[in-house]
Parts: sequence; structure tokens; C-alpha cells
Amino acid sequence: MKKITIADFAAMKKSGEKITMLTSYDYSTARLADSAGIESILVGDSLGMVMLGYSDTVSVTMEDMLHHCAAVSRGAENALVICDMPFMSYQTSVYDAVRNAGRLMQEGRAGAVKLEGGTDYAEHIRAIVKASIPVCGHIGLTPQSVNAFGGFKVQGKTADAARRLIEDALAVEEAGAFAVVLECVPAELAEYVSGMLSIPTIGIGAGAGCGGQVLVYQDMLAMYGDGGFTPKFVKRFADAGSVMKQAFGEYIKEVKDGSFPAEQHTFKADRSVMEEIKKLYGSKGDGAAEGAE
Ligand code: KIV
Repeated sequence: MKKITIADFAAMKKSGEKITMLTSYDYSTARLADSAGIESILVGDSLGMVMLGYSDTVSVTMEDMLHHCAAVSRGAENALVICDMPFMSYQTSVYDAVRNAGRLMQEGRAGAVKLEGGTDYAEHIRAIVKASIPVCGHIGLTPQSVNAFGGFKVQGKTADAARRLIEDALAVEEAGAFAVVLECVPAELAEYVSGMLSIPTIGIGAGAGCGGQVLVYQDMLAMYGDGGFTPKFVKRFADAGSVMKQAFGEYIKEVKDGSFPAEQHTFKADRSVMEEIKKLYGSKGDGAAEGAE
């Protein structure tokens, strides 16, 4: 397989082939998703919640994103790596937006960046695209605005809100974005918006009528442990959380009862080395060495 580019996104929009995207935040997970054939990996600022344990994405910094994006980029051979621009890395000015998008490309080795917001950030998107950096938009529920929204809520539910969503989608497209994420939007509206645009929409909680889908991998693998919250739009494709927890428990048990490590997990010492050591310090090696002053 060859490296996926934004030209492939455009071709998939044209042919109607669905685009696949998953989040990753580290090298080994990126390698797994990439080798499974995922077309794009989003280094989402959801890392603040699923990797760093914050209650929202607002605390995520540029340094966090650069660190994780560089690791993902090393693991993603074919997938297009899209890196989220964190809160306050682009809202402050068009200059900051271009500067920080550039850092995610240069230092994080991203293939594209994603930023939240529609009409209000069209100018920022236009400037980043002008600097030859591909931009994916993100509208609907935009988690960096959780405090302004008053919670994680489905968007576009009234006619007025639906009209604003359409204006945002058109503004993002017109500004030059190559794709746009629609998050938590009623399925019929998302399908309608997808039909209006010439760029692909990537849905999360937006139904099957989008040009592609994205999920946070910890959600689809049920990795939150007991009592973890799963949004309505998530399908659990595997219960990796239970598999991991069971394996951790077996490890603890085997270390405690001495059955791990077994002989096949150990390295052999040279007999003459051990004879020499025992001559010097005594035969047992348990507690104070015999004859040691
Ligand atoms: O940060 C993230 O993971 C995202 C997805 C939810 C689209 O933006």
C-alpha cells in the first residue's frame, strides 16, 4: 500500500468509497492501526482525556500534541497522519494558527492538521492552507468549546442551529479544507450536509451518510475499565479492556506465586562465572555474603 494523501481523500469522495479514520497517540498503536489498513490516523486532542486523564481537551498543549504526533508519525507507514491543533494554538490569531500548524508538520511530522470551528475560523484555515498545510475542519460538537456549549451535546437540533451548521460546513470548504469532521450531528442533517459539499465529511456520532467515519480507539476497544462512560455513537468492536485487565491480573498472580518467570524466560549464567562468585561470596546469595567484612 502507498502513503495516503489528501488526493486519495478527494478520489474517495468522488467514487463514494468510505474513508476510515481512527485516533492513535503513540507509536505501537499507530503501527497496529496502520498495518490493519486504516487510511488515516487522527492524533486527536482527545489524548487529553483518554491518555492524560483530564476531564476535557482544554488543558492539552502544543508540546503534548508534538510529542504524541511525532510518535504516531514514526509508526504510520501508509496512513495519513492528521494532528489536532490544541486549544489556544490557533484561536488567538491567524499568525499563531499558521505558526503552530507549521510546527505540527515540521516537528510532529503530521501530514495535515485539524482545527475546530466553522465560519469564525475560515480566515485561519485559509491562511494555513495558503502555507501549503492541508487542513481538516471540525464542526458540530467541538469539544474545545465544551465550556461555551455547557456540556457535550448533540448539535444542529433546531432549524436555526442546522442552518448555522450548514454555513460552517460551507465556510470550511470554501476556505480550502480537504475534509471536515462532523461530530454529534443528527444523521439526516449530516447526510444532507455531506451531499452539499465537494469535500468528504468524516462522521463521529453523525450517522452512516458521511463520507467516512472516525472513532477514538479506546472507545471502540472498550478500554476504560469498570464503569467507564461510552457515548451512544460508539460501537465496541472488541473488549480489549477486559482482555488487558485479565492479563494484568494473571501477571500479578504469577509473580506472587513464583510461576513467572519460568525457565524459558530466563538467561543462563556461565557455570564457571557462578563457581567463581560462590567461592568469593559463599554458596547461597541469600542475605549477607559469608565471610564478608
Ligand atoms: O480529538 C479527537 O479525537 C477528535 C475526534 C473525536 C474527531 O477530534
